[in-house]
Parts: sequence; C-alpha cells; structure tokens
Amino acid sequence: MIAIKPDISLPLERTRARILRVNYAGERGAIAIYSAQLMFKGILANETAAFLEHAVGHEREHATKFRKAMLERRVAVCPATFIWVCGGFLLGLVSLAGGNRGVMACTAAIEEAVHGHLNEQISYLEGRDDALANLIREIRVEEIEHKKAGQAGYDPECMAASSYTGVIKGITNALIWLATFGDSTRLKRLMH
Ligand SMILES: [Fe+2]
Ligand SMILES: [Fe+2]
Repeated sequence: MIAIKPDISLPLERTRARILRVNYAGERGAIAIYSAQLMFKGILANETAAFLEHAVGHEREHATKFRKAMLERRVAVCPATFIWVCGGFLLGLVSLAGGNRGVMACTAAIEEAVHGHLNEQISYLEGRDDALANLIREIRVEEIEHKKAGQAGYDPECMAASSYTGVIKGITNALIWLATFGDSTRLKRLMH
C-alpha cells in the first residue's frame, strides 16, 4: 500500500465529517440488515443465527463509537441515515430468500465493499486525526471477522450467488460514493 502524500488537499474537516457520517450510517444499515434477518432466525440454522447475534452486537458497539467520535468533533448525523436503515432492512429480508447461504453471501458482499473504504479512510486519517484512524482500525478487525464468516458460509463459484453479491457490492459502493459526495473515489485514487 502506498501512503498518501502529505500535501494532498482534501480538506480535513469536510472529509472527516463525510467519513464519520457515512460510517455511522453504514453501521445503522448493518444493524438493520442483521435485525431483519434475526426476525426470521427460526428458519435459519442455529449456527447462522448465532453468527447474526454476535455480529449485530459488534455493529451496535461500532455505531455507538462512531456517534461518540462525531459528538467530539461536532459532526451532525446525516439526515439520509434513515435511507440506509430502510434499505438495510429490505436487503436483510430479501437475503432470507436464499436461506443460510443467502444470508452469509449478503454479509460477505457488504463487508467486502465496506472493508476497502475503511483502508482508504485509515490511510487518509493517519497523521491528521490519529485517534479516529485508530478507532477505524480497531473496528476493521471485527468487520474482517464478519467478512470471513460470510465468505465461509456460501459457495462463491455458484453463478446465482456471485451475481447476487456483485449487485449488493455495487449498491453499497454507490451509496458510500453518494454519502461522501465522491470523496470515497478521490481517496481511492490518491492511494494508487
Ligand atoms: Fe460495523
Ligand atoms: Fe460488520
């Protein structure tokens, strides 16, 4: 990974606010997905339900930590957060149609899309807001765990699963791009 040159000119306050808003909205979306899936845990294997309970606990902690970081930096919650919550809830319901594999494929797709953005955010924030960079690094450990559990729970060779995860990744990336007003793409470009 190439470090960002120190002279890059994305303004800290604006970029940091966008990072925090999108991350918080994303955590709320993740809570909504897992909560929708857990409403129907009776149709899922015990193992899948146990993973969902474990993961939603992490997402609740992440949302609380990002909210605290926002308050400390005087960043307001994005009013569009409810779109993430409604979208997440619907996605969680749709994923149930694929049973245990559908649920785990959904988890893998979302965590993969989110993970790439966390790396870019950490690189940007290092040396600018180390406390926030460290918080994101700490949260990333659990997101990687979710991603791995998701990947182990479905067959990526299956055509239906790969088109399904491709669509979810596309939607997640588009939402992140919209919510950061394009900063997510600029951060990515600056890293390469
Ligand atoms: Fe999370
Ligand atoms: Fe997660």
